[in-house]
Amino acid sequence: VKWLEWVDGENDEVRAAGRWRTLRTFDPDSDGGGVAGRLAGHDGEVVSFASNDYLGLTQHPAVVSAARAALDRFGTGAGSARLIVGTRSAHAELEAALAEWKRADAALVFPTGFAANLSVLSVFADATTTIFSDALNHASIIDGCRLSPARVEIYAHNDVDDLGRRLRHLRGGRRAVVVTDTVFSMDGDVADIHAVADLCARAGALLIIDEAHSVLGPDPDLDGVDALRVGTLSKFLGALGGFVAGPRPFVELLVNRARPFIFTTALTPADTAAAHAALAVYRSAEGARLRDRLRGHVDRLRAGHPSPIVPIVLGDEARAVTAAAALLDRGILVPAIRPPTVAPGTSRLRVTLSAAHTDGHVNELLAALHDIDASP
Ligand SMILES: Cc1ncc(COP(=O)(O)O)c(C=O)c1O
Repeated sequence: VKWLEWVDGENDEVRAAGRWRTLRTFDPDSDGGGVAGRLAGHDGEVVSFASNDYLGLTQHPAVVSAARAALDRFGTGAGSARLIVGTRSAHAELEAALAEWKRADAALVFPTGFAANLSVLSVFADATTTIFSDALNHASIIDGCRLSPARVEIYAHNDVDDLGRRLRHLRGGRRAVVVTDTVFSMDGDVADIHAVADLCARAGALLIIDEAHSVLGPDPDLDGVDALRVGTLSKFLGALGGFVAGPRPFVELLVNRARPFIFTTALTPADTAAAHAALAVYRSAEGARLRDRLRGHVDRLRAGHPSPIVPIVLGDEARAVTAAAALLDRGILVPAIRPPTVAPGTSRLRVTLSAAHTDGHVNELLAALHDIDASP
């Protein structure tokens, strides 16, 4: 078979399943706080409710100028892997700040959060390990499980009883890793980390939590349990990259064994410095104000909802796609999320809010959702 024929056949299969996707260009306006801008092929301004830049820090003057200063000092790329000559003082400074923030001995940055998850699972879960993974964990955790030679057990979503039962049935001699998102990326719900940590402490399991979306918490205290905290610099820290924070020997093992860390070029100095400046904003009084503002937007959509990811489940795929198109006609960009990303019958609008949204943006969103009968 000729390659092109095979590729055409595969593409036809995706189209026939109604799952064909194409890239859309969205350019934020310079004064739009990162949320308002132009969408290629669409007339007029669009307000995006689709980004993970939850605090608007990609546009923060201190973050942008830190990236600029790093460019001036270090140039664009790091030019090599961290273990060769790719480590800059910017990396070490950010790692110290991340460790302090997460109350950990040490932290290590990776080019993406995806690479951080691949790394922790492939390094800490060997063939004598069983990984217990929440059914709704992120794709990078699923792929990390696939990369590891460990046995993998999927426990029911957020079901601490199911996890406990499975841990009790672990055969003697096997080590256990429990891995969970703290905020689930398609549902915006949160894991009961303290209950999961208690189970891990009792079973002697290593707990790995992915805090990519935990801009509004939870920020669990993990004393008394072996734990690694995975995070990303790419969402509310406004840059690109991922990190792992934990006990120093665990971080040292990652430096020595994690292939997605060793065999890839270091995070760029500009992203590193941007994330460091964003972390300083996050931890300042201004950061607290931005989180309060975000919290207020979330409450207006769904009072008490624990994260800025607000799913509006509509059921069938066509309904979600039609609803997203109707919103776009009004200049509001909300993605329709369909299988295979979510289970069949649970297609949804996935609204993500940002402190950069104005009250007016949120009012418009609420009115539009009401008009299309998709109330949050
Ligand atoms: C829960 C979760 N973990 C990890 C990642 C990967 O992070 P990154 O975008 O930095 O690769 C994402 C999103 O992309 C995510 O939603």
